[in-house]
Amino acid sequence: PDEAYQKTFKNCDELLPTLPQTKGWWSVQLFQYHGFWIHIFGIRGSMLIHDHFKPRSTDIVVATSPKCGTTWLRALVFSIINRASFDFSDHPLRKANPQDLVPFFESIIHKDGSTSFVDGIPSPRLLSTHLPYSLFPTRMTDDTSACRFVYICRDPKDVFVSKWHFANKLRPKELPPLSLEETFDLFCKGVSHYGPFWDHVLGYWKASVESPKKVLFLKYEEVKKEPLGCVRKVAEFLGVPFTPEEENKEIVEQIVKLCSFESMSNQVVNKLDKRYQQRPISNSDFFRKGEVGDWVNHLSPQMAEKLDQITEEKLQDTGFNF
Ligand code: A3P
Repeated sequence: PDEAYQKTFKNCDELLPTLPQTKGWWSVQLFQYHGFWIHIFGIRGSMLIHDHFKPRSTDIVVATSPKCGTTWLRALVFSIINRASFDFSDHPLRKANPQDLVPFFESIIHKDGSTSFVDGIPSPRLLSTHLPYSLFPTRMTDDTSACRFVYICRDPKDVFVSKWHFANKLRPKELPPLSLEETFDLFCKGVSHYGPFWDHVLGYWKASVESPKKVLFLKYEEVKKEPLGCVRKVAEFLGVPFTPEEENKEIVEQIVKLCSFESMSNQVVNKLDKRYQQRPISNSDFFRKGEVGDWVNHLSPQMAEKLDQITEEKLQDTGFNF
């Protein structure tokens, strides 16, 4: 790494032992950093972004708490901003998982040991993150002209169930599976990747109210119900509304269809079940059911009630509702 990067690495190494730590849901240790439980890689990535990233007014950041619809939102935004470049029958989304088309911000900021990789991405740069809004530097969040965020949230009950399934896939086979009850307690206490979940959501929600031109806030359930309207809303927010010609050609419909759970989960590339040492996640792990309300099949009425109660407390006086 270059010298400036080395300094940030060193700062991170010195900081980590001073932070509260806990065992994550799989084998990754989590540290409590500015109120959020994040793994080393994410913290270091956040510090590198903070110290070195040079934002551009055209940057677009797809932000999510894990399991809220990252894959879907990456696909939608990618296909919205690149709609003039590709044919829908031979689209990059038919050949690659969205995570390979929309780079993960806190990961690629590490690449090449300097900012040369992110600096080299042509505009408009489309990046994806799980980092909470409060961890981005003010030069990204204050200045209304510097970059935009598109965020998606989801009912905490569905998020928990999705996360529990995902964690069990990631968990090393030598370890016993995670019980639903044990994991539920951790989630309720806010101990989960990039958690507490509610604080993550509220950070972006408040920003979207204060700076509606900077942060667009979506709900998984709304996108499911009104995909066409949501796609139009995203395009408008990003300054590339659909033209009457595009509407006539049903481009919005084609984007929604291409990015739908049915279409994406059936692409050969997304059926791959291969895991690697460096990347213990396979493409197929990102597609499970893609439904609203699957929690009823997993949570007892008491669990659902407890989660709803926590949500109610957390949202009290915020004006926000899931
Ligand atoms: P379920 O586990 O409830 O099925 P993320 O992409 O943030 O990791 O979230 C994964 C969740 O989004 C999973 O939820 C997954 O099935 C769902 N998902 C993935 N692709 C989707 C799509 N194109 N449309 C709707 N939901 C999708």
